[in-house]
Amino acid sequence: MQTTALILAVLATATVAEHHGNDDSFSVKDQCRAIAKMTKLVDLAANQTMLDDKANGNQTIIDDIKAKAANATSELSTLTSNSTLVGECAVVQAHDDAVDSCGEIQKMEKFLALASNDTALTDYFDGNTTEIDDFKNKTSGLTTKLAALQSNATLNTFCSVQNDIESCKEISKLQDVIAFAGNNTALQSAFKGNTTDIDDFKSKVTDAQSKLDSLTSNSTLETTCASLSQAGTTTQGSTTSDSKSGTSLASRLEFAGNAVSVALAMAIFSMFML
Ligand SMILES: *[C@@H]1O[C@H](CO)[C@@H](O)[C@H](O)[C@H]1NC(C)=O
Ligand SMILES: *[C@@H]1O[C@H](CO)[C@@H](O)[C@H](O)[C@H]1NC(C)=O
Ligand SMILES: *[C@@H]1O[C@H](CO)[C@@H](O)[C@H](O)[C@H]1NC(C)=O
Ligand SMILES: *[C@@H]1O[C@H](CO)[C@@H](O)[C@H](O)[C@H]1NC(C)=O
Ligand SMILES: *[C@@H]1O[C@H](CO)[C@@H](O)[C@H](O)[C@H]1NC(C)=O
Ligand SMILES: *[C@@H]1O[C@H](CO)[C@@H](O)[C@H](O)[C@H]1NC(C)=O
Ligand SMILES: *[C@@H]1O[C@H](CO)[C@@H](O)[C@H](O)[C@H]1NC(C)=O
Ligand SMILES: *[C@@H]1O[C@H](CO)[C@@H](O)[C@H](O)[C@H]1NC(C)=O
Ligand SMILES: *[C@@H]1O[C@H](CO)[C@@H](O)[C@H](O)[C@H]1NC(C)=O
Ligand SMILES: *[C@@H]1O[C@H](CO)[C@@H](O)[C@H](O)[C@H]1NC(C)=O
Ligand SMILES: *[C@@H]1O[C@H](CO)[C@@H](O)[C@H](O)[C@H]1NC(C)=O
Repeated sequence: MQTTALILAVLATATVAEHHGNDDSFSVKDQCRAIAKMTKLVDLAANQTMLDDKANGNQTIIDDIKAKAANATSELSTLTSNSTLVGECAVVQAHDDAVDSCGEIQKMEKFLALASNDTALTDYFDGNTTEIDDFKNKTSGLTTKLAALQSNATLNTFCSVQNDIESCKEISKLQDVIAFAGNNTALQSAFKGNTTDIDDFKSKVTDAQSKLDSLTSNSTLETTCASLSQAGTTTQGSTTSDSKSGTSLASRLEFAGNAVSVALAMAIFSMFML
């Protein structure tokens, strides 16, 4: 588990570094996030019921919220007076919502598969029938909810492209992990020459290789990834088209400049630890 801690540490610093290298697209999202946050604050400050609820009637906290909201108002109005930005934020929000829905669908499918599989249930809950019944009860309402989402053709199409993109990214990252594991210089440096950690890491990369083999054995996916990568290269650098249009999904692939990096290797490796 010490390895996990190390990996998470590297991962944390890597994430910060990545964001610095990508200031442009980040700032639009940053502004959108700021708008959403400030809007929530201003709405809260204007609603006494919500305020009382949130602050538990503590006047100090209420006054503080109101002061912060008043302070945010002018910045909020400046930002929202930019209709280009507001339009972009709507797209960003819609995209994020759709991605969330795809994740929700996958989660529900997993839950329902588990709930209908007694062997898997017994396994998962160590045979505790109280917990099993509780789980079955909780998931019983999911079928209709899932069907409603699945009946949305737009969402279906979006999610299937989204899944392909995720798979393509995974392939790319797995390739990086494997290259990293075969690079002694990089390994020595990342694990500070600790051979125990290096061997531990290498042994886990076996999983990465078999995962990669299974993904790359799908020729349909390979073809899709190639065309997405191609499109990603052509639209690369155009941050506006990235945030503006659901059709330039490929540009989100970030294939360009995807050099073997410890950050990437660590990111995917951490997935095996979960
Ligand atoms: C205030 O918030 C409450 C609880 O969220 C909501 O029911 C109510 O409609 C809100 N009032 C106004 C004026 O927005
Ligand atoms: C109200 O909240 C402030 C700030 O969190 C706290 O210092 C104070 O003790 C609270 N007052 C009451 C009456 O709970
Ligand atoms: C008001 O906003 C300014 C600039 O964003 C900030 O420096 C200041 O601390 C804020 N004041 C309050 C009370 O939040
Ligand atoms: C409005 O927002 C867009 C997109 O973020 C930005 O490119 C543009 O510079 C902004 N315009 C003004 C006047 O701030
Ligand atoms: C279908 O999904 C899309 C994308 O998430 C969403 O914008 C739209 O509102 C949904 N349509 C219906 C009828 O729920
Ligand atoms: C049920 O779960 C077990 C254990 O996870 C798995 O081996 C089996 O294939 C599953 N059965 C079905 C029908 O999915
Ligand atoms: C089953 O789980 C419940 C709830 O978590 C717990 O209270 C109970 O002791 C467990 N029963 C057994 C036999 O472990
Ligand atoms: C499921 O949970 C609900 C709410 O907690 C409860 O009223 C109901 O009796 C439960 N049903 C079963 C079959 O356990
Ligand atoms: C191995 O990693 C080092 C340090 O990260 C890098 O400079 C070098 O180019 C890599 N070698 C190969 C063959 O990729
Ligand atoms: C290498 O790492 C392992 C586990 O992370 C640790 O127990 C060991 O002391 C380290 N060895 C050296 C020589 O630092
Ligand atoms: C291969 O990939 C395609 C595109 O992602 C997918 O629709 C299909 O289900 C995959 N086939 C297998 C056997 O996994």
